[in-house]
Amino acid sequence: MADTDVLFEITSAHLNTGLRGFPVGTCRTSRVDPMTGVSYVGYPIAELAELEEEAVAYLMLHRELPTDEELSVFVADLKSRRGVDGKVIELLKALPTDGHPMEWLISGLIFMGMTSKTGDYLEDAKNLIARLPELVAAIFRIRSGWGEPIAPNPELGLIEDFVNMLGVPGGDSERLTDLLRVFYILHMDHGGGNLSTFAGKAVASAHTDLYASLAAAMSGLYGPLHGRANQDCLNFVRSVGSSDPDEIEKFIRDALANKKKIYGFGHAVLRAEDPRATIQYALGEKICADDDLFRTAANMREVAVRVLKEFPKISNPYPNVDAVSGTLLNACGLTDSNYYTVLFGLSRCTGISAQIVDERLRFRGGKGAPIYRPKFVAEDQEPRSLKG
Ligand code: MLT
Repeated sequence: MADTDVLFEITSAHLNTGLRGFPVGTCRTSRVDPMTGVSYVGYPIAELAELEEEAVAYLMLHRELPTDEELSVFVADLKSRRGVDGKVIELLKALPTDGHPMEWLISGLIFMGMTSKTGDYLEDAKNLIARLPELVAAIFRIRSGWGEPIAPNPELGLIEDFVNMLGVPGGDSERLTDLLRVFYILHMDHGGGNLSTFAGKAVASAHTDLYASLAAAMSGLYGPLHGRANQDCLNFVRSVGSSDPDEIEKFIRDALANKKKIYGFGHAVLRAEDPRATIQYALGEKICADDDLFRTAANMREVAVRVLKEFPKISNPYPNVDAVSGTLLNACGLTDSNYYTVLFGLSRCTGISAQIVDERLRFRGGKGAPIYRPKFVAEDQEPRSLKG
């Protein structure tokens, strides 16, 4: 790219459109192609989904996949960093249980910053990747009344230990680990312009520490139009009440006639089926093929696309990452959809941390991008004066 390349012509029609499509910076951790979906540092997501979760976190931070030796050093390093400060867990116990789990996560990030920030973005990113599973597991256990938080077990890998610390009552740990490892990798990063990532990087541009920047990012993810959409998707699939394709079609047509949202379909950038959805449908066939709700979601994949395509105004009638994720979590024992965005956040914090490290420590010859300061054009403010 040359300094003089024109990337986007801004006219006044673009104002107040949520910066949609405006190029504002560069992202080196992932890229979103409207047709083929997300790739991480050049690797298509489908090639990464089966790797160790730590290898993909390493890719985010180092922009290269680790060798076997680099991976074992990185895994050992993350294990040595585990252990959320006990004060954070005590503070969580004082939070109101009617607060949303994302409000708990946002608070937990601030508590973690107060107790353990180092002020070095890379150091804080590694600590956070290592410790966030414990924080999120503690949120599940304390808020759901499952019992005391479970301490980390340094013998286990990152997601295996997360499942151990969740201690889902009556849960099938092996199946849940297989699912959450893939879930963690798929949700890690999605370019630089999604709201949570953009908000996190904007706040970090004031040299705010990583924890507070991520709390801002997670406040964005909490919004129903962003990450919180994944909890609504399960409720949507549940409300169909049948896995029969004709019943699903009737349900979708009724929803459209009543101007209701078809959850899990469409995307701001994608114009084809999200490869993260494709991977999860295939995983569902392996781990919960007979689950009724999964069959509903799987049949909806075909029916909804067919019906939505009848509407020329709908630019993307295809399933996105949320279309089936809740159904899989539900089949593996995580039945309360209020927690799904926290699982999304657990993963997305890794990608956002890597983008913040890159933007703060490596961009512009190591100086970092300057503080974000876009222009808002003043409107309806004719000069006035109290002096008459
Ligand atoms: C996603 O993962 O699909 C997003 O964070 C939403 C987006 O890219 O705008």
